Amino acid sequence: MPGAIPQHFIDELLARADIVDIIGRRIPLKKAGREFHACCPFHNEKTPSFTVSPSKQFYHCFGCGAHGSALGFLMEYDRLSFPEAVEELAGTMGLEVPREAGFEQGPDRRPLYQLLERAAQFYATQLREHTAAPRAVDYLRGRGVSGEIAARFRLGFAPPGWDNLLGSFGTDNAAVRLLNEAGLITEQDGKRYDRLRERIIFPIRDTRGRVIGFGGRLLGDGKPKYLNSPETPVFHKGRELYGLYEARQADAHPARLLVVEGYMDVVALAQFGISNAVATLGTATTSEHLEKIYRASAEVVFCFDGDRAGRDAAWKALQTALPLMRDGRQAKFLFLPEGEDPDTRVRSVGAEAFEAEIEKAQPLSEFLFEKLESQVDTGSLDGRARLGELTKPLLAQLPTGVFRDMMQQALNERIGLNSAPQQPRASAQRPRIARPSGSIPPVRRAVALLLQSPQLARLELPGGWENLDMPGIDLLRQLIATIQTNPEINSAALVERWEDPTMRRHLGKLAVLELGIVDDAEEQLVGTLRGLAQERLRAEREALLTKSRSEPLTPDEKQRLRELYRPQDA
Ligand code: UTP
Ligand code: MN
Repeated sequence: MPGAIPQHFIDELLARADIVDIIGRRIPLKKAGREFHACCPFHNEKTPSFTVSPSKQFYHCFGCGAHGSALGFLMEYDRLSFPEAVEELAGTMGLEVPREAGFEQGPDRRPLYQLLERAAQFYATQLREHTAAPRAVDYLRGRGVSGEIAARFRLGFAPPGWDNLLGSFGTDNAAVRLLNEAGLITEQDGKRYDRLRERIIFPIRDTRGRVIGFGGRLLGDGKPKYLNSPETPVFHKGRELYGLYEARQADAHPARLLVVEGYMDVVALAQFGISNAVATLGTATTSEHLEKIYRASAEVVFCFDGDRAGRDAAWKALQTALPLMRDGRQAKFLFLPEGEDPDTRVRSVGAEAFEAEIEKAQPLSEFLFEKLESQVDTGSLDGRARLGELTKPLLAQLPTGVFRDMMQQALNERIGLNSAPQQPRASAQRPRIARPSGSIPPVRRAVALLLQSPQLARLELPGGWENLDMPGIDLLRQLIATIQTNPEINSAALVERWEDPTMRRHLGKLAVLELGIVDDAEEQLVGTLRGLAQERLRAEREALLTKSRSEPLTPDEKQRLRELYRPQDA
């Protein structure tokens, strides 16, 4: 577990990053005045409404509302997690990401990665050079794997023999320990030997392309057919997907990813030009798998054998997927004819027909209702009531959103519930009028001003508003404190300080809110804070007056009320 990334580093990173460069490397940007424009990469459009501001180090789309810092862009566009985006950005600037001490500073994994990389090279070389290699090559040819695809997946060969790897890499005790830690050798009855022998080798890579483990297949029949690396400090079956790195090399933003069961399914599909398949490593699909997949693509199609076991596995996958089905994500299910897997299927019907089957895969909603309806008698009232009961806990797993509402609606229709259209929410009824900037509520305005020009908080600012009981006051206080302790912080870094994604989105919007200001930001902020201070006095006055109507005020309170009525406060 690496330690947390220190905040100062993130601030520094965002202060030094050039968002125009980061985005410009990914989509074409056109200069327009002080900003840069482009067609938004996050929604379909013909006229550019995507802007990048070098001064704020922020991007914003006026069409779909997407916005954020360089880190936010990397997270969205490259589908990275926050720490991955930090690593990526730091990498482009040649910086090493420091990790907070105090945390258990993880051991240095570089030797392990280096060994795994060298082992992958060793296996690949053996596939070309070992005297037994022709058998392996024949096997791959027999399964239709070309040299090009073998190279793309870095396929290799573990030759026959007990100590090919051990002999080449286990030069001393430390090296043997490392081989063991990497899962490359096993020990039994005090004897050590290579774990993978006489097998075709499938190197498993992480999203960054580092080799983290291997799968090995026998050249013929026998047991076990596949042998995989055990869990190691860098390899966790429940997290890793075979082929994800390769799929993203072929297309960084695939419209969908296929989840298949086997190594050979991934390789065979790639051989047929279908390079968006990933495989779980002999385990059921986990939420961590799915989170990884959804970071790379908005749609996942699970491919299963159409037999009983396949359907059961699909139902498990559905249950895992439910809590992750945020709006915009999709999950579908493809059931292959019994006894077929994607490898055999694509060979028998060809790439085009296979793609067509993928197109027609069953949406999650259909699969869900089909399965539950098969368990009840939908012709009877009792059966329909039972359907409602069965569905309820599943729908409860879905995140709130349009998809969940639609599923509820679909259930209501199926069980014959009178489903009056839901009352639109109060806020949706009110027509949205673009407010002129002058009528932005003062707290919002102050927050926006500070986010857009953090240096304003370095000035002597009026007080007296801090105790105001009003939404946003806490935030305003925090913002000012943050800037005062980090005077060099820029807009983007300020926004990134908030961990809650909803809050970040909210702040991101304020950071680009049109305030109609040219160069009187300071005056505006001071004026707004003074207004808030007066508001606080007014609130106190009102409270005292209200109290005086029901009970006598104490002498102190009377004194305070008199102060509050002094003319300068009127
Ligand atoms: P399958 O038994 O469906 O094999 O295992 P396959 O993928 O069709 O293999 P080929 O086509 O005969 O070469 C599916 C996956 O389950 C894991 C592997 O990840 C395999 O790709 N598995 C299977 C094992 O880990 N060990 C095994 O002994 C068998
Ligand atoms: Mn197979």
